[in-house]
Amino acid sequence: MAPNLIKIAPSILSADFSRLGDEVRAIDQAGCDWVHVDVMDGHFVPNISIGPLIVEAIRPVTQKPLDVHLMIAPVDPYIEAFARAGADIISIHAEAGPHLDRSLQAIKALGKKAGAVLNPATPMSALQHVIDKLDLILIMSVNPGFGGQAFIPEAIAKVEQAKALIGDRPIEIEVDGGVDSTNAGALAKAGATALVAGSAVYKGNDATTYAPRIKAIRDAAMVG
Ligand code: DX5
Ligand code: ZN
Repeated sequence: MAPNLIKIAPSILSADFSRLGDEVRAIDQAGCDWVHVDVMDGHFVPNISIGPLIVEAIRPVTQKPLDVHLMIAPVDPYIEAFARAGADIISIHAEAGPHLDRSLQAIKALGKKAGAVLNPATPMSALQHVIDKLDLILIMSVNPGFGGQAFIPEAIAKVEQAKALIGDRPIEIEVDGGVDSTNAGALAKAGATALVAGSAVYKGNDATTYAPRIKAIRDAAMVG
């Protein structure tokens, strides 16, 4: 079997924000595939993080895709700002508004890859009728809002459901929350193609640890 080429997307939510540019450069040099950017509004989720200005600021620092996870409602008024700021993938929550289909179309119209995110309690069937508009399904394995929370194992079954729904379509399955080398293998085996890791990469904010930590998650995800 071919080796499993899972993508690792460290979340800058756990970076040292006082030296964010260096922290992004460090995960790039440490071999990450994507840079995961968690955007929180204090309304859809009970925390406030960063906005388009920060995306714009880190854009020149790395060539790696910026994987922007919008935990905001309403989302439609801000999609263009994140696209212009340099996001490559823009993911929006199915729970964030009544017009998921329209929001996904808006992302595609801006030339960006479109992702839909499901909170732990939201069934995979929420994406059944928008599946052909998706480049990525992001499955939350914690309730969004904070880094460093415990992984919810039910996410593994949900990855299997996503894989079944996707069939032959070239859609990424990404998992976000509490991911580390203890659950990466089960997630990859279930069909995950990308893993977000915040604290599992950035905890302690010592750049010398990032490469071995990314490798540990990648190695654990090797199922072939
Ligand atoms: C949670 C965020 C996650 C989070 C992951 O709301 O979407 O991306 O930063 O952090 P860890 O890996 O520490 O759970
Ligand atoms: Zn996230």
